Amino acid sequence: MLKNILIQSGSLKKLGTIMDLTQYTQIVIFTDKNVAQYWLDTLQSNFEKPAPVLTIKVGEKEKNLQTVEKLWKFFQENKCDRNSLLINLGGGVVTDMGAFAASTFMRGISFINIPTTLLSQVDASVGGKTGFNFGDVKNLIGTFTEAEKVIIDPETLSTLPAREYRSGWGEIIKHGLIADKAYFELLKTAPGSDIEKIIQRSCELKSGVVTKDATEKSYRKILNFGHTLGHSVEILSEGKILHGEAIAIGMMGEAFISKELGYLTDTDLKTIQKTIEKFQLPTKTSGISKKDILAKITTDKKNKGEEVRWVLLEKIGKAMVDQSVPEEVVKKAIDFILE
Ligand SMILES: NC(=O)c1ccc[n+]([C@@H]2O[C@H](COP(=O)([O-])OP(=O)(O)OC[C@H]3O[C@@H](n4cnc5c(N)ncnc54)[C@H](O)[C@@H]3O)[C@@H](O)[C@H]2O)c1
Ligand SMILES: [Zn+2]
Repeated sequence: MLKNILIQSGSLKKLGTIMDLTQYTQIVIFTDKNVAQYWLDTLQSNFEKPAPVLTIKVGEKEKNLQTVEKLWKFFQENKCDRNSLLINLGGGVVTDMGAFAASTFMRGISFINIPTTLLSQVDASVGGKTGFNFGDVKNLIGTFTEAEKVIIDPETLSTLPAREYRSGWGEIIKHGLIADKAYFELLKTAPGSDIEKIIQRSCELKSGVVTKDATEKSYRKILNFGHTLGHSVEILSEGKILHGEAIAIGMMGEAFISKELGYLTDTDLKTIQKTIEKFQLPTKTSGISKKDILAKITTDKKNKGEEVRWVLLEKIGKAMVDQSVPEEVVKKAIDFILE
């Protein structure tokens, strides 16, 4: 069912048997320092002689035009042409930016993504969004370009710091809440169930949503559940809160709004909270002011014009997009997520 996505333990070391690596004029690798330390040798073992590598420093701060320029230079210096291949090995920072550089170099060269964080395996690797941050706006510049292949090797998660791993579950819980009640029920009762199956289901869900609306005209926005408040909290925390953690908090706030407007019950809200807590993700935050969160929400690029449009839950397992919410309710929701 999942076109172009392979989820298989041990696939990184078997890349050469999964795809024909001899068909390209050149193969180059893009990664970051952490990932290189653990997984680059495994990837290189697929080649007779090591492929050229561009390794960048770690973190969201590197997701900028300067790094993209380094990538273009790296392609040029290594004589990449339209029959060459870029392999992006890393989390969402690496896959988003590598994909962008490949999608624009010589009007587009082939690339594959090998996502190595849980977040990038269940989210960033599906849907074809590429890009980097510009000015102080996240992912302002980008393209919609699908990777030739996405190879997910759950073994790579073994070296991921525990907090990064937990953060990935924020998006997984979101997938259940917005589109699949049974999946949410499964998560609720069995955290820590078979990770390969979880990645598979989350990729299927995201891919199903994206297929219906590839360029985010409307339906795809359900994936932004938890992100209006969550994104604001993430930015205002200045790096202290990870994306998945912020989304967990955001989902609590937006579920609260859904309850206030009569869609969810008190019990639903409690169930969502318990589930998020089960995965040791936060449901509240502190040290940020209500005023700042309100101000941030209105500058969120995802919103049209002045009026903020929300993704709410009609019920557990079904989201609705483009909802307007009275300001008093928004304020109450912010109080709800502030400690
Ligand atoms: N394209 C999309 O649709 C989409 C969706 C969601 C997020 N994103 C983007 O993804 C980025 C966040 O992704 P992320 O959470 O993967 O961040 P990341 O790439 O910064 O990785 C998180 C941290 O984990 C380290 N790491 C990665 N894999 C590791 C491994 N196997 N072992 C040890 N350490 C490892 C990295 O070096 C980094 O320190 C953001 O820039 C976001 O905008 C894109
Ligand atoms: Zn997200």
